[in-house]
Parts: sequence; structure tokens; C-alpha cells
Amino acid sequence: MQEGRDGFSSRFGVIAAAAGSAIGLGNIWRFPYVLGENGGGAFFLVYMAFILMLGVPLMLTEMSIGRAGQRNPYGTFRLLAPKTKWYLVGVMGVAVAFLILSFYSAVAGWTLQYLYDAVTNSFEGKSSSELSGMFDSFTSSAYAPSMWTLVFLVMTGSVVVAGIEKGIEKYTKVLMPLLFVIIIILDIRAVTLDGAGAGLKFLFQPDFSKLDSKAVLEALGQAFFSLSLGMGTIITYGSYIGKKENLISSATSVSLADTAIAVLAGVAIFPAVFAFGIQPDSGPGLVFITLPNVFQQMPGGYYFSVLFFFLLVIAALTSSISLLEVVVSYFTEELKISRAKATVISFISVGIFGVLCSLSSGPLKDVKIFDKTVFGLFNYVSSNVLLPAAGFLIVLFAGWKWARKSVSDEVLGEGKAETPLFKMFMFIIKFIAPFAIALVFMNAVGILKL
Ligand code: PHE
Repeated sequence: MQEGRDGFSSRFGVIAAAAGSAIGLGNIWRFPYVLGENGGGAFFLVYMAFILMLGVPLMLTEMSIGRAGQRNPYGTFRLLAPKTKWYLVGVMGVAVAFLILSFYSAVAGWTLQYLYDAVTNSFEGKSSSELSGMFDSFTSSAYAPSMWTLVFLVMTGSVVVAGIEKGIEKYTKVLMPLLFVIIIILDIRAVTLDGAGAGLKFLFQPDFSKLDSKAVLEALGQAFFSLSLGMGTIITYGSYIGKKENLISSATSVSLADTAIAVLAGVAIFPAVFAFGIQPDSGPGLVFITLPNVFQQMPGGYYFSVLFFFLLVIAALTSSISLLEVVVSYFTEELKISRAKATVISFISVGIFGVLCSLSSGPLKDVKIFDKTVFGLFNYVSSNVLLPAAGFLIVLFAGWKWARKSVSDEVLGEGKAETPLFKMFMFIIKFIAPFAIALVFMNAVGILKL
């Protein structure tokens, strides 16, 4: 460990922090709406396959690279592959973190507004269409969404200035399990609604005629986004993991927790979507329109709505912290500026783009680049182009460039003999993962037609 670098105090601390990064708006906001736009069950199956086949191995790879490097992703690649261009993967990660953080804080801003609405009991007595109108009129206004975006960024910045150990660990440990419990309660209410069956069918019954090459790419992008892969977050967190920790079990637990939350969120949302006559392909507003309907149908709905949006803000915060951490650790370690200064610089630059994203449903909705709003473009390009591209390069690095011995030292422990599981892992990252990612990508852009 480099001098002056914080570490995590306990094994549960690292897992909690990595799970805190993974679990966030990606599971509860993005997963359901992207699934809804891409036809449901078939998307779900492909998504699960990508998590297992590519997500878990890539998570393990990133943790290993991070722990071997003991620094930010850029510096790590410089250290592990000196005098090569691999460090560009690290640079790419910093850039992607910027993009994601921008639209992520815009959506987190919506969540803050919804927390406020929940506290002030603003959902009460509203019909499904009124709730949908409420979302539209809020997101299309200029002032409130931008203000909440900046509030959220200030929250993120304050935790990051405080440093890793104190900043991240203590919140995640208690609050993520609580989020889990609340979602299960929502699930119980959702599946017992009249007409819930159609939603479960939509989610779990695959209809492959609805799956096109674009949906497959979206499933891949969503898997990487949800697990925080392909941009240096897990590499950065890996650098804080103690040498004695077992990375296989850490990578598996984090992926499992993340996927469980996404599935449980789907089970809370789709039955309600169908029960309340909401369109499953309503887009980014889906969760915000659907869940307030559910809260109204439960005893104590007021308290559940407040608690839910509070926890969603926290989940978003533990993810945005991990994004900002990538940028800040790069600035502090490579450009040698103070943590406080790095945070302020990041806050200002991300703040500008975040506000542009938050205005994308309102005043800037007609500003289109490649037929997408700023928000839409950042959201699409980061998940469906940049994360898979970086994920591809990272498995390529670990599979082909990094010495096999170094990989096994990290994954299994120094000097340990290769196990069958490890051999399988190497096979995946050498052959299957790069090939699969390239294929999905080429198929979606039309270079290749499967
Ligand atoms: N995985 C986070 C979520 O699901 C988002 C994220 C993506 C965080 C990439 C870090 C890096 O909300």
C-alpha cells in the first residue's frame, strides 16, 4: 500500500463499499426502464447471462488489477504495463466517470425532489395519470431539476473530501441492507395487486421475438453499468482491498447483491406497471411514475415512500461517490493536487454538464446530438459504447498482456497453484469475454449480422 493511502478496516467494509458503488440508480431506475423498453423477459435472460458470463469475471479482473496496482486506474496501468499505451484505459475511465456522473446526478436530483414530495405527502390522492403528469411537469421545468442536481453533487463532494474510510464505509454497511428490506416489502405489495400477474409475465416470460441486436447491446451495457464495471471504479476500490482478502468471494458477493436488488426492483415495478395501466416502455420516468401508485395502495404508504426515496438517495450517493473517487484519485495522485482542490474542480466541471443533462427534458429538449438529448447521449454512449469498450480492453489486458502468474497471485493468493475454477476464469477472460463483447457490439452497429 502506498504511504498515506487509506484502507478499509474490515472485509465487510470493502464489500459494502463496492456493493454501495454497484447498487444504485442503475438497479432501481435504469434496469427496469431499459428492460421495459426492450421487451421484458428475453432481455432479462440475456442480462442474467451477461452478468454471470462477463460481469462476475470482469469484476474479479478489475479487483485484481486494482489491488496489484495500489493506485488510481491510470497509475495502475502505468505500473503494470510500463512504456505501453495501456494507461489510456485508465484515462478513458476518468472521462467516462465524468459523463456518467453528469446524467447520474441529474437523475439523483429527481430522486431528491421525490424525497421532498414524499415528505410533503404530495402523491396522496393522485391518479396514475396525475402522477405521470407530475413527473413530466417537474422534469420539464428549468429551475428545480438543476437545483437538485447541484445539491446532489454537493452531497457527493462533501463525502469524497472527507476521504475513503470515514466517507464511504460507515453509511453503506447499515443502509444497503435496509434498502433490501424495503424493496422486499414493496415486492409483496406489488405482487398482490390486482392484475400483477401480467407484470410478472412480462418480466420473466421470455419472448425472443422482441429481442433485437440493439436490445442485446443494451443488456450488456446495463450489466456493466449496474456492476460499475469498465471504468475504473472497481479498479480504484480494488486498490483499497487488503492483500489477505479473497477476491473471488468478494467479486461474487458484490455481483450477487447487485443483481438481487435489480431483480427485486423489477418485481416491485412491473406488476404495478400493469396493474395501474402504465406503459412498460415509458422510459426514464418509469420508476418515478410507478412506485408512488404502489405507496398509495399500502398501509403506512406515506412512511414507506419517505423511507424508500431516502434510501434511494443514499444508494445513488454511494455510487456517485465511487464515480467521483475515480476522478479525484486521478487528480490527487497523478496531478499532485490536494483532495479538496480536486473535488472542487470536479464539482464545477461535472456541475456544468449535470445541469445540461437535467435541462434535457425541459428547456433543452430540442437540442439534439445524433438524434439524442444531452442526457440521452451521455446515458447511451457511456453504457453502451464506452463501458463495453473499456471492459473489452481490461479483459484483453488481464488475459493477454498481464503475466498469468501475476493474475493467479492476485486471484488465488501469492504462489498458489492454479485451480480448475481459475483455469476456467482465465479461459473466459482470454477468449470468451473479448469475443462476446466484440460480437455483441459489431452486431448492434451492423458490421456483422447474426
Ligand atoms: N453501478 C452504479 C449503479 O448501478 C452506477 C455506476 C456505474 C457507478 C459505473 C460507478 C461506475 O447505480
